[in-house]
Amino acid sequence: MDIFYHHRMDPETPLEETMGALASIVASGKALYVGLSNYDGATLIQAAAILKELKCPFIINQNRYSIFDRTIEQNGLKETALALKKGIIAFSPLAQGMLTNRYIDGIPADSRIAKDGRYLKENALTPEKLSQIRALNNLAAERGQTLAEMALSWVLKDNAVTSVLIGASKPEQILDNIKIIGHTSFSKEELQKIDSIVR
Ligand SMILES: NC(=O)c1ccc[n+]([C@@H]2O[C@H](COP(=O)([O-])OP(=O)(O)OC[C@H]3O[C@@H](n4cnc5c(N)ncnc54)[C@H](OP(=O)(O)O)[C@@H]3O)[C@@H](O)[C@H]2O)c1
Repeated sequence: MDIFYHHRMDPETPLEETMGALASIVASGKALYVGLSNYDGATLIQAAAILKELKCPFIINQNRYSIFDRTIEQNGLKETALALKKGIIAFSPLAQGMLTNRYIDGIPADSRIAKDGRYLKENALTPEKLSQIRALNNLAAERGQTLAEMALSWVLKDNAVTSVLIGASKPEQILDNIKIIGHTSFSKEELQKIDSIVR
């Protein structure tokens, strides 16, 4: 494997034990690099120090990050990853489809909410959320983008995030999403407008 991720911080297991397991996976040739997922900034610092000591090549963090979910800005992960020169790959950058035009006029029969309510449920689409989605959709149109394109551009707007991990149910969605390559900059006013819509 290229990258072997540890997917959750585990308070029941000493960090040395988990990092030791990751290092042995690389040392035995089963993976080239190690990644961490869903860590916070403070635990990342400790984990990175242990992996450095073990001479284990740890390169990237996989965390949820979107216009709607700023947890990594609040728990120190984004800042710490930048300081340690580790990458971040953002998952659910489209908030599972809410940061797209999918739900603007109701719940389509082929959408994630209608087909697979495990992770995204109808009750996530509160009237407040829907009005935020509509306002963001208008702003995206002013930028000449779809809402999905703007949401992905937003995640990649600074140098902290290495890549975005998108989901898609149709090839057209991927073709839409890849249009953002080279179009990830925002004016200060646009960023302020986004923040004022969602906060
Ligand atoms: N490390 C972790 O703990 C963790 C946790 C969760 C996920 N992940 C990873 O992250 C990946 C992505 O997560 P996610 O699927 O939640 O990501 P997402 O990109 O936020 O949401 C994907 C959904 O957005 C909709 N969509 C995508 N592009 C669109 C477009 N251009 N226009 C309109 N709708 C569009 C589709 O919804 P419809 O299906 O309704 O069409 C698609 O299924 C997962 O596959 C998984 O590998 C990792």
